Amino acid sequence: MRMKIIGTGSALPKVTVSNKQIMDWVDTSDEWIRERTGIANRHLSTGETVASLAAEACEKALKQAGVKAEEVDMILLATCSPEYLLPCAACQVQERIGAANAVAFDINAACSGFLFGLTTAQAYLQSGMYKKILIAGSEVLSKLMNWGDRSTCILFGDGAGAVLIEAAEDTQESRMISFSQGSDGAKGMVLSCRDRWINNPLYKENIQEDFYVQMDGQAVYRFATRQVPACIQDALQKAFLTVEDIDLFILHQANARIIEAAAKRLHADIQKFPMNVDRMGNMSSATIPVLLDELNREGRLKRGDKLVLSGFGAGLTFGACVIVW
Ligand code: UT7
Repeated sequence: MRMKIIGTGSALPKVTVSNKQIMDWVDTSDEWIRERTGIANRHLSTGETVASLAAEACEKALKQAGVKAEEVDMILLATCSPEYLLPCAACQVQERIGAANAVAFDINAACSGFLFGLTTAQAYLQSGMYKKILIAGSEVLSKLMNWGDRSTCILFGDGAGAVLIEAAEDTQESRMISFSQGSDGAKGMVLSCRDRWINNPLYKENIQEDFYVQMDGQAVYRFATRQVPACIQDALQKAFLTVEDIDLFILHQANARIIEAAAKRLHADIQKFPMNVDRMGNMSSATIPVLLDELNREGRLKRGDKLVLSGFGAGLTFGACVIVW
């Protein structure tokens, strides 16, 4: 079975926050943030949730495809910032959009979550188990930030994106050609966020209150600039394609410098790396589907185009896939 993306959608919190506004909260500057990250603005939640944003993105993808929610077989929601540990956010989305016939569950692989969701969906589809699958990435990362820590809070934004895929006829060109993905749990603590501690009467350790994102920015930067080009090359080799064969490289929008460094290492034209990190910041699992939706709605994706999608982030996790749109 071949995978065809038949609808895309995205949803963003209504409030946009500029670097200048962040300067009221922490000791930073517009210049520093733009130079080091390429970020100028980001959307921050004033009440929007992972479930509400994901549901809106999924509904837009369904509408674009002309598919009813009851026809969806499966919902995979990538998130690392759900409102509830249980029920999972995917089940909340199922309820909100009325996809009563779908099985729904979350995937947490941080910024690689959407990509891993897409390859998981491809495996289900290829096995013949399901025919129509919604894959979303949705985050409200702003609640995981220490808004007194300038090294992290300036980087992230909130938002959601979704794609609807279906099993395509073998006569059609659209498909996932190859993928390459991996994890490096040994380096996991370079980007982490603690959930609650054990609090039963048997547990005697001191409970520490550090429930915010902690990051060794330079370690993440080194990992990303080495690993992203390597796994893109691996996926290209598996597809018997070269960098020149690819129309667009749609990378996780963490930081413009990381994307530029990846393009340089691949000897690829930076014009083939669309970016929206300047307007969105890093929305973790949501960056790739939000960018895909923007490009799709702008008419920049044509059937038959070859795209590389690549994600990387906490875990550490990384991956790339080559698809024909
Ligand atoms: O999905 C993956 C998510 N993570 C990432 O994408 C992070 C990847 N890492 C990076 O992009 C970069 O490491 C950062 C943008 C996070 C930081 O840039 P850097 O060039 O690695 O800066 P640094 O951490 O080495 O800090 C340099 C200086 C320090 O001051 P001193 O010690 O040299 O006086 C920091 O205290 O910049 C200071 N600094 C800031 N200054 C103004 C750190 N954050 C800020 C800030 N505004 N927001």
